[in-house]
This record gives sequence, C-alpha cells and structure tokens, in this order.
Amino acid sequence: MSAPNKSFDPVEVEALKPEEIARMRDEALAAFAAAGDLAALHEAKIAHTSDRSPLALANREIGALPPQAKVDVGKRVGGARGEVSRALKARQAELEAERDARVLVEEAVDVTLPTDRFTPGARHPLTTLSERIEDVFVAMGYEVAEGPEVEAEWFNFDALNFTPDHPARAMQDTFFVRATDGGGAEQDAERDAETGIVLRTHTSPVQVRSMLDREPPIYVVCPGRVYRTDELDATHTPVFHQVELLAIDEGLTMADLKGTLDHMVGALFGAGVRTRLRPNYFPFTEPSAEMDMQCYVCHGESVGNPDRPCRTCSSEGWIELGGCGMVNPRVLVACGIDPQKYSGFAFGFGIERMLMFRHNVEDMRDMVEGDVRFTRPFGMEI
Ligand code: DAH
Repeated sequence: MSAPNKSFDPVEVEALKPEEIARMRDEALAAFAAAGDLAALHEAKIAHTSDRSPLALANREIGALPPQAKVDVGKRVGGARGEVSRALKARQAELEAERDARVLVEEAVDVTLPTDRFTPGARHPLTTLSERIEDVFVAMGYEVAEGPEVEAEWFNFDALNFTPDHPARAMQDTFFVRATDGGGAEQDAERDAETGIVLRTHTSPVQVRSMLDREPPIYVVCPGRVYRTDELDATHTPVFHQVELLAIDEGLTMADLKGTLDHMVGALFGAGVRTRLRPNYFPFTEPSAEMDMQCYVCHGESVGNPDRPCRTCSSEGWIELGGCGMVNPRVLVACGIDPQKYSGFAFGFGIERMLMFRHNVEDMRDMVEGDVRFTRPFGMEI
C-alpha cells in the first residue's frame, strides 16, 4: 500500500469536484420534487440515497483522500447528503399528507345514503309478556315450574278433581292423543295406561306435578302452551298460552290470593289498579272465583258515559283476567299434602287475551301468523 498523497488536490478527483457534488444534490432534489406520489418518491429515494447512489459512491471515495482533503470534501459531501435527506423527508411528509387528504375524500362514506335494512330478530311479544309476568313472581320468591304439553289425563283432569264423567272434560274440548279406553301399545307408566294421554288443556296440571315433586311450602309460577280444539279466528286459537300460579303454605287465605293478584296487576299495569273476585266454580279450587282487573285505561270512567267510550274494556270498567281460588283439599290429598296443615291458592289466565287488551291487538290470528310487521312494533326486548 502506498503512503497517503499529502499534496492531493480534491478538485482533481472528478466525482468530488464541488460542482459535481452540487449537481448530484440538485438532481436528487429535483427527482424528489418531481415525484408525484409515494411510489415515485420511493424510486427516487433508491436512486439518490441508496448505497449505490452517486452521493453514496462519492462518500466512499473520501476514505482514499489525504487527511487535509478529507475534511473539506467530507463537509461538502456530508452537507449535500444532509440536504438530500432533509428534502426527502419533507417531500415524504408532503406526499403522505396529500395521500391522507385524498383518502379522506375518496373513501368518505355518505351516511345519508339509503341502506338495505338489517332488522335484528326479536322475541315474540307473547314470550316477553309471559317472562315479564314470571319476573313479577320470581321477584317475590316464586320458582318457575314447567310441565309437559303432552300430558297424562290423570294430571290434566283426575288429580284436579274432575270426575270421570265431569262435563268440564267435554267443556274443555280436549285433543286426545290416546283415548282413555284405547289401551295403547306402550303401557309402561301405570297412570298413562289407566288414564289416556291428552294435549294439556290448561297449565293447571303443572300444579299437580309441582306438589308431587316438592315439599311445602311451595311457591311456583307455571307458564306454558296449552291446547283446545277451537277453530282459529279473531278470538280463538287451538294453541295458546297460560300462566298458572300456585302457593301452598301454612295459613294461606283468600286475602293472600287477593293481595297477590293486586300486586301482579299493579306491577304489570300500574300501581293502584284494583282487582275484584266474582264467585265461580272450578273443580280444583274451593271456593273458586273469576278474577277481574279494573280497566287500566279508563279506570272505570267509561262506564255509563257514552261520551268517553273505552275500547280496552268495551266501556265495562273491568277486564276479565282468568280463574282463581283456594286449592281444593281433595287436590291437596291427591298430591300427598295434608289439608289439615296446609292450604293454598291458585290462579291461571291466558297470555293471548292479556296481550290483546294490554296492547289493543284486535285479532288473535296476528299472534300466530309470524308476520314481523306485527312483532316489530313491540321492539327488541331480549
Ligand atoms: N285452568 C283454568 C282454565 O284453564 C284456569 C284456572 C282457574 C286456573 C282457577 C287456576 C284456578 O289455577 O285456580 O280455565
């Protein structure tokens, strides 16, 4: 290796001449300025700042220079590279800002444009009403109990004190799955074999199942689907829903029944809506009553007042809810409960009817046809 050439004049090295370095710098600056987008700038960056760019190559030459020239040329090349790098950074920022502004405009979403409606599914109002009723009782400590829809006739009628020839069996217009005397192939369960199988005509058999399954005190609310051989029309449907309530404890009286009913209608229709009981007959309660609630819309003010007709109660002031009473001791005995020690009350009513007067639904068929135009106004309760 030869000794450093102390008398070297940098002007003599072509690539390191000041005007050459200035030209390299200017070309780089011009290329950056000319780059119309980030891709073009990237190309220019490779051409003018990579290891093989003219300025990088010039920089490499510096090492071979004599010490006194190194400083001079080093400053010049370094200065040029610094300028190029700053220009690149500035142009990069400029083009990025331009791109961002363009993206904002080009990719803007016009939120006022009409869209395809996406309607989320909703639960049927019969379900939500039934659950709301359950909630009222669950809050009071009741338990939700359910039973089968295909039910042994024994649970549906016999245990509830309907005698075999009781007109109520015909009155209930039952769907028989297997008639009483039919025998049937599968005679496994003794009760089924003896009594026939029906589609339950009410939720009252769940009372029987609840009493057989539990020790008193018993507090159950029993929602469910029931069946009767009715034609589907504006006020009847062969499949409908009921909610049944049963309380068995020591010392329960009609007053507890009345207080429970008042609390329920207050919770569902507004505090202060009263109930009244009218004597009636059910085989499974004694005494039995028909329960009415005061009309929650007119509060009775439409009665005898033709100027203020009320379509919710047909201007009668009261709305019939369902049946109720004190559990018949014969039912308690059939369910293995000592009537000397325990008493109970029960009531049952139809959900479709309640939905009709609660929401002014005029035709029961709307509830079973599955048209979302009916269910949608009830909202998206979950
Ligand atoms: N199960 C009766 C029906 O469907 C309604 C009913 C009446 C239920 C009186 C009761 C009751 O619990 O005590 O018509």
